[in-house]
Amino acid sequence: MGKIPENILNEIQDKCDIVEVISSYIPLKPSGRNFKACCPFHHEKTPSFVVSPDKQIYHCFGCNSGGNVFNFLKEYEKIDFIDAVKMLAEKTGVKLPESRSHSDQDDSLVSTLYSVNDIAANYYSNLLEKLGSSLEPKRYIAKRGLDGAIIKKFRVGYADSSWKALLDYLLGRGVKQDIILKAGLIIKGKDNSYYDLFRNRVIFPIFDARDKVIGFGARVMDETLPKYINSPETAVYKKGQHLYGLNFAKTHIKERNFAIITEGYLDVITCHQYGFSNIVASLGTALTTEQIRLLKRYTHNVVMLYDADQAGEMASLRGLDLFLEEDMNVKIATLEKGHDPDSFLRKFGKEKFDEIIKKSKSLFTYKLNILQGRSNNREPESKAETIKEMLSTINRVRNAIIKAEYIKLLAQELSVREDAVWEELKKIKKDRVPHRTESIGHGTKKLIEISPAEKILAKLMLEDVNIVRIVRDELKPSDFRNQDIRNIAEALFSINIEDGLIDVSKLINSIEDKVPQNIISFIVNEEVEIRDKEKNACDCIMTIKKENRSILLKDIQNRLYAAQKSGYEEEEKRLVEEFNQLIKRGL
Ligand code: CTP
Ligand code: MN
Repeated sequence: MGKIPENILNEIQDKCDIVEVISSYIPLKPSGRNFKACCPFHHEKTPSFVVSPDKQIYHCFGCNSGGNVFNFLKEYEKIDFIDAVKMLAEKTGVKLPESRSHSDQDDSLVSTLYSVNDIAANYYSNLLEKLGSSLEPKRYIAKRGLDGAIIKKFRVGYADSSWKALLDYLLGRGVKQDIILKAGLIIKGKDNSYYDLFRNRVIFPIFDARDKVIGFGARVMDETLPKYINSPETAVYKKGQHLYGLNFAKTHIKERNFAIITEGYLDVITCHQYGFSNIVASLGTALTTEQIRLLKRYTHNVVMLYDADQAGEMASLRGLDLFLEEDMNVKIATLEKGHDPDSFLRKFGKEKFDEIIKKSKSLFTYKLNILQGRSNNREPESKAETIKEMLSTINRVRNAIIKAEYIKLLAQELSVREDAVWEELKKIKKDRVPHRTESIGHGTKKLIEISPAEKILAKLMLEDVNIVRIVRDELKPSDFRNQDIRNIAEALFSINIEDGLIDVSKLINSIEDKVPQNIISFIVNEEVEIRDKEKNACDCIMTIKKENRSILLKDIQNRLYAAQKSGYEEEEKRLVEEFNQLIKRGL
């Protein structure tokens, strides 16, 4: 989609409230006319994130990120501007215009893939539904204990063993072969013809958080390998970027304020069938930071429930560190050996499963248990090794109190001196590469570079349209020396002054760069009141003119000096004249 017209952006902003949008992600507390929270974009303990309902702007005074509702969604959801607009357009029921630019093609590919995937999911599920109950797929699914409602909910299906059934079906519905290929549903054979990727398998559609089918997992119905075949990466499916089941789990995760994360398709489906709905799967064991961040939108508390085998144990240990890096509270639940959530639930039932979740262990107990299983921890060397391993995880805990408590516990458990443990911790710290940047705001340093006159004038203009009128008559955007203020002035000078009001949250849309956006949200939310606005504005205008003039004079002097030295008489004469003119004009 190309540029979205201003009136559409305005309409969307008019129909939504930034406070409502932001508070659906993080809790906001009223504070005077505004709302406050701990900033979701950097780590902090006292709230410096401010949302102004009047101005429809947010700003974090800690990391200096800020902007309007679109900027928030962009940052929080890690999406681009267009997607932020689309999200809110959908929410507010505003229709976006259609256009045909290059990125529009990407866009239409994405929505085409969604719909092709959807058709394929329906095809597979119809195929399963039509089968007689004595046939293998039906028997397999019955053996796995899936009931009719859950099959429907998860849109479980079946791909038969013919080579081109889906391909022919989709072609018959007018879908181009090229698109079917891009959807990852077919592959090229040795004879250069195409055939279906999934054959003779049970099909699990993979959904994104908004219920769109983005890919498929397909399981064999016996012990042959590979057990699963999954969709390749496509324009809509990226490995490690999605969480299976999140579309069904997200409201339950919010409600219960914790999520269970597990490994497989059937773990999620069975848990849902038994009423545990706040569960998602990483699909395989390699949990990624992206997946954690996805989950973090809904809760900061997770219970890892991985298979009770060696792979699951390793995955849990690795996941533990990743969750801590992302500042999540994480616990680990362990099942009886050889079980996964699906098999455990079916064998032991709901109550026992609930107990397992309730009994989930802290990172400390979990990891220490594993390490103690590996060595006796009696020799100094083995104690040191265990402590080193433990510290690499404990060191990732961001809360200083929790961290200190773990250190104390560790010292007690292994009967060593606590100060020695602290000393070892210090050594690790030096090696550790910080995992994430603490600040995403790009305005802080830039703000210092702005002259006070330019900053105050920008603030006055943003607050009062009459000041814009005055400044516009006196200065050109290029008179502002700071490039970001220049951008802001340009945007302000081109608004329709007759409207009588400046809607800063909308003005931001006409500025492309992030820095001036952050500067605007800072200036606007700053609790500094400037009285005698017009008089102050005039003073600032004067100062800016004076500053510019003296810079100009200095520049002419420098050039004059250079011209004299090199004997460029023509240039010298011209510069003297220019200099005299400037002096004559005065201020
Ligand atoms: N997986 C995969 N490809 C494989 C094996 C596993 O993509 N060859 C992924 C699947 O997403 C699977 C998850 O890893 O759901 C967990 O694997 P596993 O525990 O082996 O399978 P289960 O989901 O438990 O399946 P089942 O209970 O049917 O054995
Ligand atoms: Mn399983």
